[in-house]
Amino acid sequence: MGIEMLTVEEIVRVRSSFDRVFANATDMTTTFYDRVFELAPEIRPMFPADMTNLKHDFISKLAVLVGSLDETTGLLSGADILGRNHLRYGVRPEHYPVVAEALIWSFARGLGAHWTDEVEQAWRKVYGIIAQRMIATDSSPPPSLSSPITSPPRRA
Ligand code: HEM
Repeated sequence: MGIEMLTVEEIVRVRSSFDRVFANATDMTTTFYDRVFELAPEIRPMFPADMTNLKHDFISKLAVLVGSLDETTGLLSGADILGRNHLRYGVRPEHYPVVAEALIWSFARGLGAHWTDEVEQAWRKVYGIIAQRMIATDSSPPPSLSSPITSPPRRA
């Protein structure tokens, strides 16, 4: 499965906008999760009552992913691990667009005048690449089923 490539300009837009909101990471993550639960209140029970640690984990992981945008292997393996974890949390493909909209919304709020159409497009593309990979990981069988361990051929 091919992955859509990012241009250098898109990577720069995503990184510099991320750096701006990261300066107010607590505000950003609070706005983000509030928006997720406003858009889809039915998924609130999937999350812990106390969101403090998750807010921190989410923004830290996003920082790592944004740092890996020009390094496909790292980006995709990060998304693979997240995809497997999210399968365990009960996350389904239809949840991803909700999180996309909440993320875009919270970035737009955090960035004010620095939020432009180009920045939004770049973020949508990056989110699409990560989410697509997370979802693909979800639906694939575990390695033990897809690649059975066979014994090496015997020497004569
Ligand atoms: C690009 C998309 C996403 C990213 C980067 C992301 C990131 C994370 C991270 C870093 C964690 C902490 C645990 C871990 O590392 O596995 C986490 C947990 C979680 N995420 Fe996501 N997530 C994404 C999308 C979603 C979506 C679409 C949902 C749908 C509802 C979701 C629901 C959850 C839940 C329920 C937890 C577990 C909370 C807990 O029990 O501690 N995430 N996510």
